[in-house]
Amino acid sequence: MKILECKGCGHIEFDEAPDKCKVCGAAKSAFAENPTAIQKPANPAELTEGDKKHIPQIVVVKECGLIPGGCCTDVHVKVGEIEHVMTDKHLIRYIDYYLNHKFISRVWLSPEVCHPAAALHLNVTSGTLTALENCNIHGNWLSETAI
Ligand SMILES: [Fe+2]
Repeated sequence: MKILECKGCGHIEFDEAPDKCKVCGAAKSAFAENPTAIQKPANPAELTEGDKKHIPQIVVVKECGLIPGGCCTDVHVKVGEIEHVMTDKHLIRYIDYYLNHKFISRVWLSPEVCHPAAALHLNVTSGTLTALENCNIHGNWLSETAI
């Protein structure tokens, strides 16, 4: 899977650049392939404390009940297994959601009032959900799950 980064704002898209950046509005030409734009654990079998503080944890709640009369798939994301700090100097700036590797939403997080976490209520019952978090110091990290 190709990792494409917007040179305007750092937003990540997969495989194909959109006509316009969905975050900053930059033109398609602002996207360039950057295989290192997303951090990975050096050894996935032996995660470091830093890995555990940044890899998003995804919890899917099927039929959460918030939206009456319809399916509602509730997708909770927490960063990370060891909770990441949220201070002015070191924080999770946002959590981006993708469905089947297409960007669907960004949740911005303010350090004074937000936990390093977000939730979305989706009207789909299947697909691949990707959560990508951005730490202001340690960059982008992602997790994926089937919903
Ligand atoms: Fe961090």
